[in-house]
Amino acid sequence: MERTLVLLKPDCVQRRLVGRVLARFEEKGFNLMAMKLLRVTPELARRHYAEHVQKGWYPHLEAFITASPLVAAIVEGPEAIRVVREMVGATNGLKAAPGTIRGDLGSSHQMNLVHASDGPEAAAREIAIFFKPDEIHAYEPTLECWFHAADER
Ligand code: CDP
Ligand code: MG
Repeated sequence: MERTLVLLKPDCVQRRLVGRVLARFEEKGFNLMAMKLLRVTPELARRHYAEHVQKGWYPHLEAFITASPLVAAIVEGPEAIRVVREMVGATNGLKAAPGTIRGDLGSSHQMNLVHASDGPEAAAREIAIFFKPDEIHAYEPTLECWFHAADER
């Protein structure tokens, strides 16, 4: 089992797409382990996007991500980090494949609806930025036996 950080970015909240995007992860069989609505501060944006702070386009990204509240969530499941990234699709909505969230719902490079951690190190780092341990709620999903065969669990 893996956990990954998903952000439903301000455009996703403003466009009333939170339910539809979360539904995709739920339908796939992933477990929601934590979730909250919050307004990202410039400081939090710089921590989360540390690898991009020096880029020329970073000020535009910071303005976007701090402009309005977003929803942060932890999604859990087998190979969740890779599978969620693939479900989200390529960064630019105009290049993302149809069938992906960005490919189906997005048409912008910046306002691309969803963030998903890009590897195990990023997932651990980003989850710790957005959630305290007592905000993460482990539970036994009762439908697990109908999502995965006994020898796959
Ligand atoms: O989110 P992803 O990992 O697919 O893309 P990234 O290259 O790590 O960039 C992080 C985020 O910065 C993107 O999701 C876009 O919202 C934003 N971005 C931007 O505003 N302008 C760019 N030229 C590239 C990315
Ligand atoms: Mg990235």
